[in-house]
Amino acid sequence: MARKIAFINYKGGVGKTSLIVNTAAALAQRGLRVLLFDFDTQSNASIWLLKLERWNKINASGAGAIYSIFEPGTSRVKDLIIRDVVEGKEGQKMLPGLDLVPTTFNLVDLENEYNGDPKRPPYLVFYEQLAAIESNYDFILFDCPPNILRASQCGVFSSSEIYVPANPDALSLIGFTLLVEKLQKFHQLSASFRKAGMGVPAQVHGIIFNSIKAGVDIEVPKMRMQLRLNQFKTAKRAAPTAKIFDTQIRDAMVVRRAVALGLPVALVSAEATDAGPSGDNVITDYRKLAGEIVQQVQG
Ligand SMILES: Nc1ncnc2c1ncn2[C@@H]1O[C@H](COP(=O)(O)OP(=O)(O)OP(=O)(O)O)[C@@H](O)[C@H]1O
Ligand SMILES: [Mg+2]
Repeated sequence: MARKIAFINYKGGVGKTSLIVNTAAALAQRGLRVLLFDFDTQSNASIWLLKLERWNKINASGAGAIYSIFEPGTSRVKDLIIRDVVEGKEGQKMLPGLDLVPTTFNLVDLENEYNGDPKRPPYLVFYEQLAAIESNYDFILFDCPPNILRASQCGVFSSSEIYVPANPDALSLIGFTLLVEKLQKFHQLSASFRKAGMGVPAQVHGIIFNSIKAGVDIEVPKMRMQLRLNQFKTAKRAAPTAKIFDTQIRDAMVVRRAVALGLPVALVSAEATDAGPSGDNVITDYRKLAGEIVQQVQG
């Protein structure tokens, strides 16, 4: 069965999308089958991996985007999967094994305009459709906005693990704290829809420090985060095995540049990756992180 992981923090701009795109790429490069869902109406991950021209075509009609499973409700998740999404200039497949279900700007309508059957909230509709394809993947990842509103709920309800991207600052810690509170509330709200066989509601399993500048000591923010995580673990509000990942992702210009190129960092030419004398660079960080995720003890 696939491991299903939502990347989320109540703090925006901490690097959720950059982490998920590059980690998904690193997992696919290890030969694993990865499906990435974009549940953020900003569509950053979709535009990144499809590039603007391909994404524009989907955005123009909404056909092929995740919102179409809700409105008009005729699509199914399995039909929305863009296989081996990353393409080169001539349409050649650049990263076999990384699939995407994209979003477009219309996903915002799920929050207010959508009036589905109250007995079947959007997250349940999504969950059931996901179940049909789950066994085709090793990892299913959900990029979420910094909230647990309806779009995010789809990812959170279906997940078995939650990872929290964080920067070494007080606001990320506040975002993490708020996330755990909101998760608790959502799990209570959705409990009656959780049937036997769905597994337990997802808790925080990992915290990933991102965008760490060279020479900056992050011991204090890391210690504060660890203390908060320990409190949540004691209160059984985080997974018993939850940890701060040993791997942290350095701040690197190439991460910002990769978006414009429409490629995960690992596929950006070697000269552009700011490799140090030992060839050590941010790509190595993402690879190490993928390795740590694969190794992480479940439970
Ligand atoms: N390791 C990194 N090095 C340098 N810049 C980074 C790194 N990670 C992310 N960034 C930059 O930080 C900004 C925010 O990143 P990103 O969009 O991934 O955050 P986010 O948490 O998904 O934001 P949102 O809350 O809007 O969804 C972007 O400009 C991105 O290029
Ligand atoms: Mg994002």
